[in-house]
Amino acid sequence: MADLSIELFGIRFKNPVWVASGTFGYGIEATRIYDVSKLGAVVTKGISLRPRPGNETPRIIETPCGMLNSIGLQNPGVESFLKELYPQIEKIDTHFIANVFGESEEEYVEVCLALESAHKIVAYELNVSCPNVKKGGIVFGHDPKVLGSLVERIKAKIRKPLLVKLSPNVSDITEFAKVCVDSGADGLVLINTLLGMRINIRKARPELSTKTGGLSGPAILPVAVRMIWQTFERFGFRIPIVGVGGITTHEDALEHIYAGASAVQVGTANFYEPFAPLKVIEGLREFMEREGVESFSKLVGKAHRLDIKGDVNLSQKTLQDSFRKGGDTECRP
Ligand code: SIN
Repeated sequence: MADLSIELFGIRFKNPVWVASGTFGYGIEATRIYDVSKLGAVVTKGISLRPRPGNETPRIIETPCGMLNSIGLQNPGVESFLKELYPQIEKIDTHFIANVFGESEEEYVEVCLALESAHKIVAYELNVSCPNVKKGGIVFGHDPKVLGSLVERIKAKIRKPLLVKLSPNVSDITEFAKVCVDSGADGLVLINTLLGMRINIRKARPELSTKTGGLSGPAILPVAVRMIWQTFERFGFRIPIVGVGGITTHEDALEHIYAGASAVQVGTANFYEPFAPLKVIEGLREFMEREGVESFSKLVGKAHRLDIKGDVNLSQKTLQDSFRKGGDTECRP
């Protein structure tokens, strides 16, 4: 059987397929429908210092090939997370990554420090890109100086690896990636949601209570792939990239991986195809076996290797599948 295990920032993951923050609760909920320990990692819903009720409803609306959300980082706060949820997480045999959020630098640091002794949490994913809150979130992710200072300050205080989830709502994402590289981040997560809006034409008013929200789902796959490509082109293997944005199938995941992602997260697909992460794992495994790929690392950034001319020599089955995929005009959700 093809070995999908990977090592990133000194940690061995059973496979490179993780579930994205905000689309999978705290990993506990899905244990009722499948074996969550099969996943490479679970990234938790954003955790803040104090409990947050989130935004007023309506805060989710469907869009062509995707959805808009404006949850507002609802969560029970780090203390309650550790007391009520963490003991259940401890029973699940895979790694957890805590998505961490604060309204000030100090709050980010405090949340990370509170989680330092929770051994199932192997790394932090810094949320500096939530487009749905007035304080924190995107305020940190849209100013390179503010971002650099935050990453440096947290890195100085913690022992676990620090990943930074970047916002796509900037003109050049590689400038923000550079700040993270220079400030000592251990990995990048590309991308969070794209700022969007829908209007209810019967009511002649915005669909979401906050007017705007974050667009996710298959519609954003090409944007994520483009940003991963650009970031990998600039930094290569200097910093691992975790791809997130529009992944439903292993073919989608391969686009992220060929663009430069060393691991991927399945997000919005969890809402309309709950078994998608498991299918992506199996799809990647079958693909590697069929195509005789011994090591997953050989796939990372493959589309950048300019020595590849014409089609790579693929099996008939893979060629047929990719042909069927075609222009991908079909909307999956
Ligand atoms: C939210 O809770 O509003 C979404 C989180 C995010 O986009 O980071």
